[in-house]
Amino acid sequence: MDEFALDMDGPSFLADPHPTYRWLRECAPAYVWQPRHAVVFSRYRDVKAILNDRRFSNNYRAWEFAQPEQWPPELADFQKLLDNGLSLLPDHRHGPVRRLVSSSLTVRSVERMQSRIQRAVDELLDVTVDGGRLDISKFAAPLPARVICDLLAIPAEMREDLCAFGLAAAKSANIALPPDELIASISPTPRWVAMLRRVIAERRENPREDDLLSTLITARDDGAKLSEEELLSLVFTFFVAGGDSTKNAIAWGVHTLLRHPAALAEIHRDASLMRNAAEETMRFEMFAKSGFPKYCTEAMEFAGVSLRKGQMVLPLIAAALRDEDVFPEPDRFDIRRDLRQTISFGSGQQTCLGAALARMQLVTALGTLFRRFPEMKPLGEPEFEPHPLIRSMKKFEVALH
Ligand code: HEM
Repeated sequence: MDEFALDMDGPSFLADPHPTYRWLRECAPAYVWQPRHAVVFSRYRDVKAILNDRRFSNNYRAWEFAQPEQWPPELADFQKLLDNGLSLLPDHRHGPVRRLVSSSLTVRSVERMQSRIQRAVDELLDVTVDGGRLDISKFAAPLPARVICDLLAIPAEMREDLCAFGLAAAKSANIALPPDELIASISPTPRWVAMLRRVIAERRENPREDDLLSTLITARDDGAKLSEEELLSLVFTFFVAGGDSTKNAIAWGVHTLLRHPAALAEIHRDASLMRNAAEETMRFEMFAKSGFPKYCTEAMEFAGVSLRKGQMVLPLIAAALRDEDVFPEPDRFDIRRDLRQTISFGSGQQTCLGAALARMQLVTALGTLFRRFPEMKPLGEPEFEPHPLIRSMKKFEVALH
């Protein structure tokens, strides 16, 4: 790789990014990605350090090239959603808001949702199985938004619209998108916000026992409540952060297991292995391409390089998960691997709030698919779709029998 130029959208990277990640770890652990004015970190030690260091912020306003004040008026509602979102809240507010939400998404509370997630998986399989074939991407794409709608008890007639917006808005994670593309992906924001305000108002009047929205409306942390704007932003984040990520966790999970028939045979003999196997698929084939961009809140020396205030850094979680300093024989798929050091869901104060929910969806979807269709085989390689953050599968067909 003499004339190395990082390209995370090319077909060879999408199909197999690991040679690139290895080269970065070994030869350029702080790679300056000129076209994006970003520094890319790929070793586990550095990636984890960034995720745990508050000098690296998620706040898009801290980016050296950010010009949010110049965004066109069509983006005003959307900008408000971002500005009230978790990643922009000041430290003194981030902790309380996180605590209000996380108590509703613990492993134990998610376990209580298992039967509803199972029902959603079964129903989606019933409508997407096409004779003896299944497009895994088509099956997995609607699941996360459907589960979120279920959790929030969104009225049936609004579900389709809310889910469609969630998928479109996921694109907005790329703040470097040209304005017309950004506007196109988020143009339904005002309608979406109005719809959700109606649901929130109705739920304030008639709180329920068992839905997350009622819990969030009434929850208090040391007397502090969520404001209406924080609540809207949180619900928006659930759709955006949990959508394409969970879909691709499932799609890449199926892909990885199908390519390791000996591991699959072991799981068929002992279903209790699926939980760790699912976690290992997320280490082995972490589909997040570049990690979440972070912005330096001050000039600093970090891992041997000088970083400017406002500079973008990209902690490559996917590359870190194949770092042999932490994961022995990292290129071996091992369903019994000790995964206590995994950082698939981040690390530190901004660790994924939906990790338990995503894991439950992943294990339920993989378990159901391989139980119902033990003879499943891939029909060729996956096709990819353009995506700013994820190696996202557009189509991945399997034969079921
Ligand atoms: C397999 C699927 C998923 C993966 C791989 C994933 C990964 C991540 C990662 C790495 C972060 C940390 C980002 C950072 O350091 O800035 C994060 C944050 C977050 N995730 Fe997830 N996530 C997934 C699913 C979900 C789901 C299903 C939800 C919600 C329903 C969710 C909600 C969130 C939220 C709210 C944050 C922000 C936390 C904060 O800023 O304090 N994620 N996720």
